[in-house]
Amino acid sequence: MTYQPLPLACDPQRLSGLSEKLVVSHYENNYCGAVRRLNIASEQIQQLNWSGAPAYLVNGLKREQLLTYNSMVLHELYFDGLGESGRPPAPLLSALERDFGSFDRWSAEFAATGKSMPGTGWVLLAYCPRERRLLNQWASDHTQALAGATPILAMDVYEHSYHIDYGAKAAADVDAYMQNIRWNHVATRLASCVTPS
Ligand SMILES: [Fe+2]
Repeated sequence: MTYQPLPLACDPQRLSGLSEKLVVSHYENNYCGAVRRLNIASEQIQQLNWSGAPAYLVNGLKREQLLTYNSMVLHELYFDGLGESGRPPAPLLSALERDFGSFDRWSAEFAATGKSMPGTGWVLLAYCPRERRLLNQWASDHTQALAGATPILAMDVYEHSYHIDYGAKAAADVDAYMQNIRWNHVATRLASCVTPS
């Protein structure tokens, strides 16, 4: 199977505090780069002699497959969640208030988690069906997912997501990101996760 990059889901000219140069570089080099690496790993996995391959090669390829697949999926979620501002629509706002106490408290937790881990990883808002609630999830790299949960919003805190605009000021990028969340898309993703009780 060959994976194809999706078109850039946001308009890089309409973002506040995130330059077009940064967003296009992020899309072309990091997202499309992950898809290219995934295709290389997939091809090599398809052709591998499993009974004779050394463990280091099997381990490396399977790790590369997981890293690049998750990088692809999370970057698609990241770009799809960029492009607007304001507050979430009613059903999502109610869920955030129910699960975090208030929208402002959710926002403070999400941003603080991002600022606590500059340079690498993701902060994800995920729906956990086991708890029937939303959770903010810390992930220090592409491979760390909350078991059983579905991410509906992804904030990239890898250095490549801000260094062109902010240099070493990672916290400033978190603040900019929080002003560009496309809440309607997040609400649609939550609706697709939640089954009627
Ligand atoms: Fe990224």
